[in-house]
Amino acid sequence: MTTRSCLSIVLAAGLGTRMKSDLPKVLHEIGGLPMVGHVLKALQAAGSDRVSVVTGPDMPALEELVRKLMPAADCHIQTERLGTAHAALSAKPSLASPVDDVLVIFGDTPLVTSGTIRNVRRQLESGADLVVLGFEAKDPFGYGRLLIEDGRLVAIREEKDATPEERRVTFCNSGIMGFSGEHALSLMEAIGNQNAKREFYLTDAVEIANQRGLTVVAVEGSETETQGINTRVQLAACEEDFQDRMRRFVMENGCTLLAPRTVYFSHDTRLEPGATVEQNVVFAPGVRVAADATIRAFSHLEGADVGTGCVVGPYARLRPGTVLASDAKIGNFVEVKNATFGAGAKANHLSYVGDASVGSRSNIGAGTITCNYDGYLKHRTEIGAASFVGSNSTLVAPVRLGNGAFVSAGSVITNDVSKDSLAFGRARQVVKEGAAGRLRDRLKAEKDAKS
Ligand code: UD1
Ligand code: CA
Repeated sequence: MTTRSCLSIVLAAGLGTRMKSDLPKVLHEIGGLPMVGHVLKALQAAGSDRVSVVTGPDMPALEELVRKLMPAADCHIQTERLGTAHAALSAKPSLASPVDDVLVIFGDTPLVTSGTIRNVRRQLESGADLVVLGFEAKDPFGYGRLLIEDGRLVAIREEKDATPEERRVTFCNSGIMGFSGEHALSLMEAIGNQNAKREFYLTDAVEIANQRGLTVVAVEGSETETQGINTRVQLAACEEDFQDRMRRFVMENGCTLLAPRTVYFSHDTRLEPGATVEQNVVFAPGVRVAADATIRAFSHLEGADVGTGCVVGPYARLRPGTVLASDAKIGNFVEVKNATFGAGAKANHLSYVGDASVGSRSNIGAGTITCNYDGYLKHRTEIGAASFVGSNSTLVAPVRLGNGAFVSAGSVITNDVSKDSLAFGRARQVVKEGAAGRLRDRLKAEKDAKS
C-alpha cells in the first residue's frame, strides 16, 4: 500500500443551504474541529500523499483552515456549483500528473476513518478501476442508491431520479469513491448532466465504467462512519456519535470514565492511561491529562496540560495556557488561565490565578485573586516555591513573591515580597472592650425614637 501514490480530492464547495448559516457547511464543527478537518486527518492517516480541496469562490476561511491543517494541500475553486463531478474536475490540474489511486471524498462526512479509506485503496490495489463505499442506511432518503445486479454494482441512482422501486433500496452511496489513476480523468470528463437536477453527478461514473468494461466494486462501510451532514439536526447527531467514539477510545486506552455519556471531548483531547474523569466534565480543545490524574465532576478544561497525579475540581475551570506539574491540586471554583503550577502546588478553593507562575509546594489560600488586568494591559504574578498565600488575598500584578514567602490572610499585596519574608497588607485590628453593648443600646434608642 505504501508504495502506491494517492491523490485525494475533497469536495467542499457546497454552501450547505440546509444548515441555514453564513458559515460554509464544512466549517461547522464536530468535537471542536471543522468537519473538513476530520476528513483531512483521516486522509493523512490513510496515507494519501497528495490532497486537493475544492472550495467555493467565497470561502477564504476554508482556504485558511486547509493551509493551517495541511500546508501541502492545494485548493481549487469551483466557480459555479454544477454538481459533484464538476466539483471534482475543478481539481483537474492535480489530476494531470500520474498517480496510482484517486480518492474523491466529501468534506461533510466527518466520521470516516482511515481504516475505511485504506479499505477502498486496497480494492484499487487488487485491480478495481472504480470503488464505491456504500452503507446500509436506516433511512435511505436523500442518498444515492447503489443498484446491484448479480452481485455487481451497475449504477448509482440519486433520490430525485430514482423509480419508486429503486427508492426502496437501502444500500446507499457514502460519497467516497476510489478511481484508478489511469481512468479517473477520462471517466469524470465523460459525465453529463441529463438528470432531474441538471447537475454533473460523479455517481454516473459507475455506469460509464461499466459500459467501458472496467471493474467496478462496491465495498460496505458503517452508517455511523459515512453519515453525511446536511442539517444542524444531523450535525448534532453526528456529534453524539463522535463523542461515543471518543469515550470508547479513551476507555479502551486505559482511562476510567465514571459516567461516559456525561463527558464531552474535543478531537484532540489526550488522556493518558490511568487518568480518571468523573461526571459532567467538558474537554474543550487542546487538553492533555497525564496518568493517574483525576478530573473531578463538573469541571471545564481548555488548552490545559495536567500532570501526573494532579486532582482538578470538582467545579474547576482550566483555561488556555494552564500547565500543572505533577500532583498539583486545583479545587472547587478555582479558575486558572495562562498560569503554571509547580509540583504539588495547590489552590483548593474559590480563586482566580491568571498570568501567573506558582512554585512547587506553594499553597494558594481560599479566595485569592491575582489582579492581572488594569483595564489596558495584562501583568504577571510570580510566586516562588513553598510559599503561602493566606485566604482572601489580592495580588496586584505585576508582583513577585520569593521562595518561602508568607502572605497573611486578607492582604492586598502591591509590592514584591522577598524570599522567606512575612507580608501584611491590611489594616491592624482594633478591639474596643465592651463597645458592642454600647453600640447596640444607641442603635435601639434611635429606632425607638422613630416609631
Ligand atoms: C451526494 C451523492 C449521493 C450520496 C450523498 C452522500 C452525488 C451526485 N450524490 O449527495 O449519491 O449518497 O452525497 O452524503 O454525488 N459539492 C461541491 N460542488 C458542487 C456540489 C457538491 O463541492 O457543485 C460538494 C459539497 O460541498 C459536499 C459534497 O460535494 O461536500 C456533496 O454534495 P451534496 O450536495 O451534499 O450531495 P448530496 O445531495 O448529499
Ligand atoms: Ca451531502
